[in-house]
Amino acid sequence: MAESLSRLSPEQVDHFRQQGYLLPVNVLTPAEVDETIAAYRTYRTVTDRAGGLLKRRWNYPKIHLVARWADTLVHHPRLLAIATSLVGPDLLVWSTNLFVRAGHSNSRLAWHQDAPYFGWEGADGNVVRIWLALTRTSRRNGTMLYCRRSHEAGLVRHDFVNRTLAGLMQGEQADYDVRDEDVVAVEIEAGQASLHQPTTVHSSGPSSTDEERICFAVDYLAPSIRPLHGPDSALLVQGEDRYRHFLPERRPTTDFSPDALRDFRTAVLMRDERLSKVMQVIHAERAAERVGGI
Ligand code: NI
Repeated sequence: MAESLSRLSPEQVDHFRQQGYLLPVNVLTPAEVDETIAAYRTYRTVTDRAGGLLKRRWNYPKIHLVARWADTLVHHPRLLAIATSLVGPDLLVWSTNLFVRAGHSNSRLAWHQDAPYFGWEGADGNVVRIWLALTRTSRRNGTMLYCRRSHEAGLVRHDFVNRTLAGLMQGEQADYDVRDEDVVAVEIEAGQASLHQPTTVHSSGPSSTDEERICFAVDYLAPSIRPLHGPDSALLVQGEDRYRHFLPERRPTTDFSPDALRDFRTAVLMRDERLSKVMQVIHAERAAERVGGI
């Protein structure tokens, strides 16, 4: 129990910095897992029935603005202690995400980094994604795979796997040579977490089991990070924000309150607009490269 509220050890911090990931890290008790899954199931029912933006964006990136179970998790003392070990005492939550894979799902994600389209300045060493398993994860249920030390390459170019429908569904692929001996499977128990950096190359596979895989991921940022190409927002969860690079978000007082829903819509649309500009800029730079090559 002492471990559950404590920071990471110096060895764990070194591992994260040198390898680009760290696992497993104990976070939730079995009772907390059960409580969170029950709240998640209600959340899914409500968002599905609500339709509109809530239904389209139930899985990312601002769950913490409308659902108190997510707000509770991002303020969980153990998660804050882990993030403090890696990012420092002042902490923003920029996004919350649910990664759910049904049993026998064929979906998979190509090898990629999370950061290329985030449009951040000063992110190096100032971000951690905590990927929290609410069910156990294994290669058989299509868990995430890391390529160790891949973060050392910095931001790498991404392109679609290929133009077939399956290729598009797998998303964009990092131009990075993943060797089999460098692949690490995130095989952890419910209530444990795995941590990675925004430049760590990772992927996920199909599921060959009946199990549903449910994971909740939080991005903790130092407030010194600057979002590029437009305004964005984040929730201050610990310490203070002396930079004000992100517009402040408010915690929900009740689930799906009118204020919370308004904040959710504003935050999601603002972020979408900025990230679409980031993407336009990257594609314009690529077009310029191609023209320059003629
Ligand atoms: Ni990813």
